Amino acid sequence: ATIRREDYQPPAWLVPETALHFTLGLDRTQVRSALQVRRNPAGDGSETLRLNGDGLVPAGVWIDGEETAEWTIDGSDLLLTLPGDAHEIGIATDIAPSANTQLMGLYASNGMLCTQCEAEGFRRITFFPDRPDVLSVYSVRMAGDKAAFPVLLSNGNCTASGDNADGTHWAEWHDPWPKPSYLFALVAGDLVANHDSFTTMSGRQVDLNIWVRDGDQDRTHHAMQALKDSMKWDEEVFGREYDLDLFNIVAVADFNMGAMENKGLNVFNTRYILADPDTATDMDYDGIEGVVAHEYFHNWSGNRVTCRDWFQLSLKEGFTVLRDQLFSQDMGSAAVKRIEDVRVLRAAQFPEDSGPLAHPIRPDSYQEISNFYTATVYNKGAEVIRMMRTMVGAERFRKATDLYFDRHDGQAATCEDFVKAIEDGAGADLGQFRLWYAQAGTPRVEARLSHADGVATLTLRQTVPPTPGQADKQAMVIPLRLALFDRSTGQHRGEELVILHEPQAEFSFAGFATRPVLSLNRGFSAPVAIDADQSNADLVFLAAHDDDPFARYEAMQQLVVQHLIALVSGGTLCAADRDAGREAIGQALAAVIDDPALDDLMRGELMILPGETYLGEQLLVADPAVIHAEREGLKAWLGAQLKDRLVALHHRASSVPYSLAAAARGARKIKTQALVYLAAGVPDVAAQLAAQQFDDADNMTDRQGALMVLAGLDTPLREVKLAAFHQRYAGNALVIDKWFSLQAGSLHPRVVDHVRALSQHPDFTLSNPNRVRALYMAFTAPHAFHADGGVGYRMIADLILALDPINPQTAARFVASLGRWRRIEPVRSALMRAELERIAAAPGLSKDTFEQVSKSLG
Ligand code: ARG
Ligand code: ZN
Repeated sequence: ATIRREDYQPPAWLVPETALHFTLGLDRTQVRSALQVRRNPAGDGSETLRLNGDGLVPAGVWIDGEETAEWTIDGSDLLLTLPGDAHEIGIATDIAPSANTQLMGLYASNGMLCTQCEAEGFRRITFFPDRPDVLSVYSVRMAGDKAAFPVLLSNGNCTASGDNADGTHWAEWHDPWPKPSYLFALVAGDLVANHDSFTTMSGRQVDLNIWVRDGDQDRTHHAMQALKDSMKWDEEVFGREYDLDLFNIVAVADFNMGAMENKGLNVFNTRYILADPDTATDMDYDGIEGVVAHEYFHNWSGNRVTCRDWFQLSLKEGFTVLRDQLFSQDMGSAAVKRIEDVRVLRAAQFPEDSGPLAHPIRPDSYQEISNFYTATVYNKGAEVIRMMRTMVGAERFRKATDLYFDRHDGQAATCEDFVKAIEDGAGADLGQFRLWYAQAGTPRVEARLSHADGVATLTLRQTVPPTPGQADKQAMVIPLRLALFDRSTGQHRGEELVILHEPQAEFSFAGFATRPVLSLNRGFSAPVAIDADQSNADLVFLAAHDDDPFARYEAMQQLVVQHLIALVSGGTLCAADRDAGREAIGQALAAVIDDPALDDLMRGELMILPGETYLGEQLLVADPAVIHAEREGLKAWLGAQLKDRLVALHHRASSVPYSLAAAARGARKIKTQALVYLAAGVPDVAAQLAAQQFDDADNMTDRQGALMVLAGLDTPLREVKLAAFHQRYAGNALVIDKWFSLQAGSLHPRVVDHVRALSQHPDFTLSNPNRVRALYMAFTAPHAFHADGGVGYRMIADLILALDPINPQTAARFVASLGRWRRIEPVRSALMRAELERIAAAPGLSKDTFEQVSKSLG
C-alpha cells in the first residue's frame, strides 16, 4: 500500500504518558504497557483508537483497569472503540528477541538485548500509535536475570533499581522529555562503560557513558572525545545545550544502520564507536567523530524538535547532517572535509537522483519508509540547507535556527516550518527556493563565458532532468559562488555570489583587459552538475592557482573527467589528442606532488582520480568495462610516467611517525595514494613497496592501505599478507570486515571467484549486516560487479533473495545497484534487468525489497 504525504491526518488520540514494564529474556520478553490516552482536540473526533502492531498478538487488553475482549485486529493493528475523552489502556504482549533477525524492535545481539525503533520498530514491541506526531512521557520498569543482564538501561534517568531474591534484578527509568515512540530505547546486557563527564554552559554536570563488551573499553576514547567536542561545539555554534543529567551510548555489533539518536540512550553500530591505532584507519576515526556528533546533534534537531510524519525525515536528517559536516569542518581540515562530502554526494546521491529510485528530499509517497533513509534525504537534504546558509550568511542563519528551535521546541514539525523559520529569522524570501524540497533530479547548469571590450559575460542556463512521476520541472534557485581570475597575475578580485533564478540569465563583469578564467560553484555552493566547457589550459591553471580548495580539486577532477569521457565516448580522439590530454593530467599531477605549499591531506585529495560511477554518470549510457579499462589505463600511464616522484613521495611520507595529527594523517594518505598509482603502472615496484609498508606498519591505515594494493595484484605476496592479516585479527569483527571488503572491492581479475569463495568462509554470515555489507557492498563497486556474462549481477540477486527473509531492510539496500540498468550498455543492461525480474517473481518478498525492485523495473 502506498502512503501519501497529502493524506496526513492528525491523530485522533494522544498519549501524554506511557508506562512500560518489561520482563526480560532473550527467547521471550513480556511487555506490559499502560497508556494514558486523551482525545486530540485537533483530531477528527473518531472513537477508534488505532494502535499499530507488527507481528504482535495481544495477550491481554485492559481499558481503565478492566480486562476487555472488545478489540479488533485490522491488518496488524489493534483497534479499540472508546467513548469519552480520557482512558488508561493496558496491553500485554510477548515477544521473541532472539528470533528477531530483522533487527527492528527488541532484538538479541551477542547475548544482550537492545532496540531499534526508528522508523516503525516500536510496533514490534507493543501496540502503540507508532507515528512521530504522538509524543509521550515514558516511564520504564524492567526486570531480568542479573547474571545475563547486569546492566539495564533506558531513556532519561534511572530513578530506582534493586535486586530480587531469585537472582533477577530490576531498574526503573524515567524520561521527562515527551518523545515519539521511535526514540524509545532499552538495552540489557553484560556491558562495561567508559565514564566521563561534561559541564554544560549553564553549569549542568552530565554523566557520560560509552557501554561496550568487556575488553573493548580502551577502544572508546576517541568516541568519548568526539562526544565532548560535539557537546561544546553545539553550545558555541548553535547555542544548543544538553538537557538531561545523563548521556549513554551503547555499541552493538548487529545493527542495520550507523547509529540511532534515542533520547539519552544512543545506540551505535560498533564500527562507529570502537577505534585504536592498531584496528582503525584514519577514515574510521573520522567516521566515528562524525557519527557521534550526528547522533548527539539530533538531541535538538530531531528530538526536541521532531518530525510530524516520515515525509519530513529530511527535516531532522538533512539538518543534522549539515550540522555534523560543519562540526567536522571545524575539528579538522575544513577544505578536505568539504571535498570528501562532495565526493560522497556525487558517488551516492547523484546516481540515486538520475535513476529509477529518484525522489525529492521531501518525498510525496512511499510503501516502506525504511527505503527512504537515503543519500537524497540525508546528504542532498544537507546541501539544500547549506545553500540557505550560503545565501543568508552564517550570522543570519544562526538567528534563524535560534528562531526555529525556539518556535518549535517540543513539537513535531514539518520541512515547511523549517523553511518558514529561516525566512522569518534571516529575513529572506525562500518562496521559489522551496522547489528544492519538491523536485527530484540533479539540476544541470551550463555556463559559458564570453569576453569583449573589457567585459566578461557569463551566461548560465539551467535544466532539471525529468524523474519518475515528475516529467516537467520548474527553474530552481541556484546560488553559485564564483571568481574570475586574471590569467597573468594568477589573482582574482574577490568572490561573488550569483543566484540563478531563471532558466537562463547573464551576468556581466567589467574591467577585464583579457579573458579571465572562470572558477564557478566554489565550495560546491549548489548541488548541481556544471557544464562549463573549459579548456585544458584553464583547468590546469585552476588546478595550480585556485585559492578555493574545492575549486582546485574540481579543476583536477574535471581535467581527468573530460579526458576520460572523450576516450570512452566514441573513440573520435586521435592519438595526438590522447597524448596531449595525458600530458596535461600528468603535469598537473606532478605539480600537485611537488607543490610545497600544499599540506599532505589536501595533496592526497588532489591525487584521487574521479571514480568509475561518477564517470558513468557523465554519460547517458555507459559501458562499465570501457570506463574501467580507460581509467586503469590512465592510472597505469601516470604511475609509470611519475614513478620516481611517486616512489620518492612514498619514501618521504614513510618517515613520518604515527600520530593523529593532520601532518601524519596526510603522510599516510599520500603513501597509499602513491602505491595505488604505482600498482597500476609498475606493479612489481608497487608489490615490494606495499609488502614493506605492510610489514613496517604500526597502524591500521598503513596496513590496510598496503593490503588493499596487494589484494589487487597478481603476486604471491597477496596470499601471504592476506593470511597474515586474517590470523593477526582473528575474532576482531570490525577488522575481519575489512579483510572481506578489501578482497571484494579489489582490482584483482578474479574477484568474482574470490567473493564466491568468501561467501562460504566460516567467518561469513548473513545475520550480521556489517559482514554482509563488507563482502557485498564493496563488490557492487563497478569493476567486478559488471563482469562479463552477468555473474556479478546474479550473485547480488542471489544475495537479495537469501537475505530478504532474514533482514529485508538490509536486503533492499542492494537493489539500487541492479536498478542502474537503463544507464548501462545493452548487453549488461538486459542481464541486470533479468535479475531484477527474477527477484520480482520470487514469492513472499518483503515490502522493502518489493518497493525497490518494482520501482527499478518501473
Ligand atoms: N536516525 C538514524 C540516524 O540518522 C538512522 C536510523 C534509521 N534506522 C532505520 N532502521 N531506518 O542517525
Ligand atoms: Zn540522523
